[in-house]
Amino acid sequence: FKWEDPISLADRYFSLFPSEKSPLWSNPCSDDRHRSILSPKFNCTNLTLPNVLIVGPQKTGTTALESFLEMHPGVGKNGMVEGSFEEVQFFSGENYAKGFEWYAGLFPNASVVMEKSATYFDSVVAAERAATLIPHARIIVILHDPIQRAYSWYNHLVARNETIVAGLSMDDVLDGVSASAKKIRSRCISGGRYAHHLDRWLQLFPSTQLYLIDGGAFKDHPSQVMSDLTEWLELPYFDYESSIKFSRKKGFYCKFISGRSSCLGSSKGRIYPTLSPSLSSRLCSVFRNDNIALEAMLRKHRFPIPSWLPPLLDRCQ
Ligand code: A3P
Repeated sequence: FKWEDPISLADRYFSLFPSEKSPLWSNPCSDDRHRSILSPKFNCTNLTLPNVLIVGPQKTGTTALESFLEMHPGVGKNGMVEGSFEEVQFFSGENYAKGFEWYAGLFPNASVVMEKSATYFDSVVAAERAATLIPHARIIVILHDPIQRAYSWYNHLVARNETIVAGLSMDDVLDGVSASAKKIRSRCISGGRYAHHLDRWLQLFPSTQLYLIDGGAFKDHPSQVMSDLTEWLELPYFDYESSIKFSRKKGFYCKFISGRSSCLGSSKGRIYPTLSPSLSSRLCSVFRNDNIALEAMLRKHRFPIPSWLPPLLDRCQ
């Protein structure tokens, strides 16, 4: 028998099992054995965790979707998190280390409790973490034309004057002319490899819990998309037709409240030059195989095919 101090024991344990270094939070209230040893201060009856996650990907309209869904009186979402600009990014980022109680403390009680973090979709850890903590949550993904999405990402960096993109054209980015260009290329492209990432979510959630939104339809007919979505979420009828109106000034649909338009800020729905045919054809090749796999995957799971996919497959042969 040999005494070993806990830190060195832990070091030894984690060198043998490195994948266990990060915790994987589950819900102690859903397991009687865990529940019985919880601190008496912990109140399982008041516990609120999201039952709907909008997981992304980034630059597909996730902010607009969240803002429209939030208009429904049956929907609640997390409060603002100190130090984060817009999203909680619990399952994909550093906030995960703050633990399950911290996360649960962010949400109000509502029939649909949602959280939107567009970084979840292509995160290698988010799906497993979400499936462990909220296995019954409904997962919403927007599938927008990946070529447009990649170009939107590039223009996002340009508009923000990010030093990483200084002096780099989109062609430079695709050519990977420097370390920065390679980094941007990966950010522009990764989230648009829909089949690759969807596969991960489908391994952890049944397809009946996943709802895929056609990003093109959402941009052009958001009230119809919102009505279909709220029906799927089993929420009472809400008059989206009169609550969302097209703003000519913004060039996008906006919330329409008390006779006034309320649009998203200038960082959503930017104006930039249209994609040139040569760039579009380069991006066609980038996403070609993934789009073919996506169509097969959608058919296999009986998901609707987004309107942009068949023409894209035709164009990118
Ligand atoms: P652009 O700014 O490149 O046009 P996200 O919120 O996921 O980051 O997505 C941002 C994108 O949402 C915008 O990209 C825009 O095209 C799209 N979008 C769709 N509907 C919108 C709306 N009603 N208002 C603003 N942007 C919208």
